Amino acid sequence: MAEQFPKMSEKSDFPLSCDILVFGGTGDLALHKLLPALYHLHRENRLPADTRILALARSARTPEQYLALAERHCRAQVARAEFDAADWQSFAARLDYLAMDASQSADFGRLRQRLKHSAERVLVHYLATAPDLFAPIAQHLKLAGLAGPQARIVLEKPLGHSLESAQAINQAIGAVFDESRVFRIDHYLGKETVQNLLALRFANTLFEPLWRSAYIDHVQISVNETLGVENRGAYYDHAGAMRDMVQNHLLQLLCLLTMEVPVHFDAESVRDEKLKILHALRPIAGQDVQDRTVRGQYGAGHIGGQEVPAYWFEKQVDNDSDTETFVALRADIDNWRWSGVPFYLRTGKRMAKKRSEIVIQFKPVPHDLIGDGTGPANRLWIRLQPEERISLQLMAKTPGRGMQLEPVELDLNLAQASRGKRRWDAYERLLLDVIEGDSTLFMRRDEVEAAWRWVDPIIAGWQEYYQRPRNYPAGSDGPEQAQMLLELQGRRWLE
Ligand code: BG6
Repeated sequence: MAEQFPKMSEKSDFPLSCDILVFGGTGDLALHKLLPALYHLHRENRLPADTRILALARSARTPEQYLALAERHCRAQVARAEFDAADWQSFAARLDYLAMDASQSADFGRLRQRLKHSAERVLVHYLATAPDLFAPIAQHLKLAGLAGPQARIVLEKPLGHSLESAQAINQAIGAVFDESRVFRIDHYLGKETVQNLLALRFANTLFEPLWRSAYIDHVQISVNETLGVENRGAYYDHAGAMRDMVQNHLLQLLCLLTMEVPVHFDAESVRDEKLKILHALRPIAGQDVQDRTVRGQYGAGHIGGQEVPAYWFEKQVDNDSDTETFVALRADIDNWRWSGVPFYLRTGKRMAKKRSEIVIQFKPVPHDLIGDGTGPANRLWIRLQPEERISLQLMAKTPGRGMQLEPVELDLNLAQASRGKRRWDAYERLLLDVIEGDSTLFMRRDEVEAAWRWVDPIIAGWQEYYQRPRNYPAGSDGPEQAQMLLELQGRRWLE
């Protein structure tokens, strides 16, 4: 897939100079994801030649102390063979630090002085901060004259807690930056494998004719993690898996998988098609919430042979918390193409295996000429993580006399197929898109709001019926009710 996209920095209209401001510069996102991504881009000469990176945070540090912190984290994140002392020195020359309080308007005057930004340079404001700072930062940037036509703002999730709060954020940001300059990140859209979904669908003639209810029985989308909430208990305990994963990553995967072929591969065409899917999602509310969703919470258990505590005992988590760490649900898309096809979505923390995958289960052949009618029919597995593979299960004859059938797999390992080329991290791709001003892989305001409009009634239904999360042991496949969700319809989760 990477070959099909032009290298951004080689385009003739790619900006020559750029200032990247990272608000929340000492946070996990900046240190674990953004700086390593920027280091890789620098090392491969993909940033505008004159790029400056200014990290901003409240803690009092000198730029030298910040560089030492940044180097420590980059060394830990970047593969050893790719960390080069000379490259780091030249990268560090671009990197600066300013201690400031993003809630204080006066500090933006100091920022302006330090930056000495000139209007023709692209200016990227990356808000890797808590969402309650989004609106004040946008306002302060405007007052400080740092929101001009070349300025872009990048927002990290959580983009609100509900439709209402998302609308409030969007409104406050929209008062300063027009929509074309707002980049709402869903890092799943930056993953090579997720973009490969688009290549699979729209660059091959093979699948598109079959991509509809006439041939597809059902679809499963699973994003399972073995990690717990780690150091993010304070955030996670107020969010839960529905807001943290389903509202964004899983719904985005669902949209890319099911949207109509866009007229062009550009921001508006792609996002218009995704929005239509979100609008076509059948609402789940009231009693349906009981029948079509399962929420779970992990108890104590074992991951990789190590004992791990129950969610209740995680740091900064309420010890009577009823936050869900697992969700399974059945979604239906009420449109011509997908009518009657169930989409089973599932995500959980502390599951048995880390695995993000999509399974398309095709219908059996219309007339079973050869088999005994019990064959599993064709199945397409799109494995996104940890391995990047696409496998197609076909039916073949077993060797020997007679016509016995067995399933065999056509298996494509995408990492090997890319002949040893380094696989980009999602943030590398997305950062370059922001610099270039291409919002195709970012969520538009109406998309985010449509996703909340679908998710809010489910969360309200859980409260209305007081549906406490079902317990599942860490290291398992989730609560047994999630199995029943499919079994009641004569199906099972395909592992
Ligand atoms: C983040 C969620 O958006 O995605 C995390 O907030 C989750 O809770 C993470 O762990 C998963 O991302 P990835 O890229 O590891 O699949």
